[in-house]
Amino acid sequence: MVQSIAPFPLSRPRRPRQSEALRRLTCEHSLSTADLIWPVFVRDGENARTPVVSMPGVERLSVDLVVRAAEKAARAGIPAICLFPYTDPALKTEDCAEAWNPDNLSNRAIRAIKAEVPEIAIMTDVALDPYNINGHDGFVEDGKIVNDRTVEALVKMTLAQAEAGADIIGPSDMMDGRIGAMRRALEAAGHFDVCILSYSAKYASAFYGPFRDAVGASGALTGDKKTYQMNPGNSNEALRLVERDLSEGADMVMIKPGMPYLDICRRVKDRFAVPTYAYQVSGEYAMIQAAAQNGWVDGDAVMLESLLAFKRAGCDGILTYFAPKAAEFLNR
Ligand code: PBG
Repeated sequence: MVQSIAPFPLSRPRRPRQSEALRRLTCEHSLSTADLIWPVFVRDGENARTPVVSMPGVERLSVDLVVRAAEKAARAGIPAICLFPYTDPALKTEDCAEAWNPDNLSNRAIRAIKAEVPEIAIMTDVALDPYNINGHDGFVEDGKIVNDRTVEALVKMTLAQAEAGADIIGPSDMMDGRIGAMRRALEAAGHFDVCILSYSAKYASAFYGPFRDAVGASGALTGDKKTYQMNPGNSNEALRLVERDLSEGADMVMIKPGMPYLDICRRVKDRFAVPTYAYQVSGEYAMIQAAAQNGWVDGDAVMLESLLAFKRAGCDGILTYFAPKAAEFLNR
């Protein structure tokens, strides 16, 4: 490819950069509202909102306000919303039974959105951490996070979410064998059209800090998640996990966090050519907002540039707390 470029001055790569029109014409990648999945935090109560201190601009919303937010998002062209519950600490137990309660906060929110904003796709989170007394994504026995018993619970959770009307199940737990178990259970229950967007390559990352505040899991968490989430030093392993999840029935795959792992996004897209998503996680959001609030970067420009980077890396979409703000810009 490089050999076909004429030597200077026959070739002057600056030529097509000389006007906005030429720059637009030669642009390879672009961001659109259709690329956005908006993660929102749901809380109890009515007409209630609580700011998440470590995520300026993000609030936990009561179910009625989540419905209004979903409506606004749909109107702005955002195709999907992803729900994360802030669970009352009194409901957190060792057996995590609230996770598959058909009337838990998350499932109530799904029903309410489905009833009033049927055009937006609803994605869920499947993991035990919002319901677990010790903040882990799986059951803890003798200080170990156990796999197979956790998968059984995740299947119950998945079915309750599908029953409530979820369009996309998002397993963020990183247990082994969960995708196959969920897919078989969904098929057996007649939920043939429910998608699974697997958090296939989810790293044990320090960038999740603000999220754990947002869902109230940081105080609860004992130890770290390194026995189930991926080692940040690994890259080939991500390909094996994506391949495994696809073979077990995942429709779409995710890389998480986002910006520090763009190399993984590109490798996954090149290898598998399946719908590929990245999660621009809470810590990434917080860093951009903090720098912007200090006047150290142009927040809006950095937001759009960071989101475009995911498209360039091969992603089909991005989970981002910036979704409503980005949509506002894209709709101008
Ligand atoms: C937990 C979960 C986490 C996130 C999404 N689901 C945190 C974790 O694994 O501890 C992180 C999202 C973010 O940081 O924005 N199952």
